[in-house]
Amino acid sequence: MALSLLSLLGLLSVSTILLHLDAATAIPLQRAIPSFREAPAFRNGATCNSHAIHVVMPLDINYIRGTMAAVLSILQHSTCPENVSFHFLSVHNDVDISSLINSTFPFLSFKMYQFDPNRVRSKISKSVRQALDQPLNYARIYMVDILPPSVGRVIYLDSDIIVVDDIAKLWGVDLGGKVLAAPEYCHANFTSYFTEEFWSDRQLAGVFKGRQPCYFNTGVMVVDVERWRKGGYTRKVEEWMAVQKHKRIYHLGSLPPILLVFAGNIKGVEHRWNQHGLGGDNLEGRCRGLHPGPISLLHWSGKGKPWLRLDSRRPCTVDYLWAPYDLYRSSRVALEE
Ligand SMILES: *[C@@H]1O[C@H](CO)[C@@H](O)[C@H](O)[C@H]1NC(C)=O
Ligand SMILES: *[C@@H]1O[C@H](CO)[C@@H](O)[C@H](O)[C@H]1NC(C)=O
Ligand SMILES: *[C@@H]1O[C@H](CO)[C@@H](O)[C@H](O)[C@H]1NC(C)=O
Repeated sequence: MALSLLSLLGLLSVSTILLHLDAATAIPLQRAIPSFREAPAFRNGATCNSHAIHVVMPLDINYIRGTMAAVLSILQHSTCPENVSFHFLSVHNDVDISSLINSTFPFLSFKMYQFDPNRVRSKISKSVRQALDQPLNYARIYMVDILPPSVGRVIYLDSDIIVVDDIAKLWGVDLGGKVLAAPEYCHANFTSYFTEEFWSDRQLAGVFKGRQPCYFNTGVMVVDVERWRKGGYTRKVEEWMAVQKHKRIYHLGSLPPILLVFAGNIKGVEHRWNQHGLGGDNLEGRCRGLHPGPISLLHWSGKGKPWLRLDSRRPCTVDYLWAPYDLYRSSRVALEE
């Protein structure tokens, strides 16, 4: 049992796990607002001919260092950085965070949205980790109701990623009529994401009838907002969360109900767009190397976060790929200036 749970946790690469554990312990300490260097202005290149690109990210003060690095990496590799709009979902509509982003990226096109945690709080079942049960972890399910009607498509990204390629390439993916696009992992053991109770209930397990479900990571998704709204997918995900309330059909947080609704019915994207698991396993955060093949996006899902490992002076090799995007100004540096 312990072993299968371990491998289950190892497969899971929702970045928010540790993050929220971290957040939970940090709240009573009233962590001070960190300070960041100002990023340069990024201008559209001569070859830019793209439309607006909308990026949605969760925003949590405990992960803000990751968010800043992610934004910088996106702008730096974009042919049309001025055409990228950021939409941040936050539980607290915090003016301090807003002005922190504004002072770090004075030219950034961004908007903050409040995600009301009460919208989902009563629907959350306890998972194997308290960290998974944070409302912000579920914000991606509700984003279509929060975004303005003018936003028809978004790229949803977790905050522990960096993009090392032009995000316009991911934006331009042909959804082929699907609601969602993401890299699919058909070799992962899909069965292990759900309980024996689920698989032995023919009515429940029948949900996958007629599709070949594959695991995908919900930390990087291209979403057709209009189609999601029209199809009522928020409600469909919520229905599975309601099932989970009285029958334990999975062990994890927001990932399984999304898989129940979408797995086997998404548009696959090249694996280069989510090199996940760089945070290591979910229990110890051991170092992990890169998967073979080209890379457009690096994702520190799992327990280890590059900024924490770098600070502790025990970084993994992959963390050196994150370091160049770190805008954090430690107090020591601030004193020297
Ligand atoms: C994208 O950038 C170009 C300038 O390079 C500009 O003409 C165009 O209006 C921008 N489009 C959007 C939708 O922001
Ligand atoms: C960002 O700061 C500028 C001044 O530097 C101000 O004019 C602008 O309103 C601010 N925007 C936001 C979103 O806070
Ligand atoms: C997949 O996981 C299930 C449940 O954890 C297990 O019973 C099964 O043996 C696994 N299959 C493979 C091919 O590893």
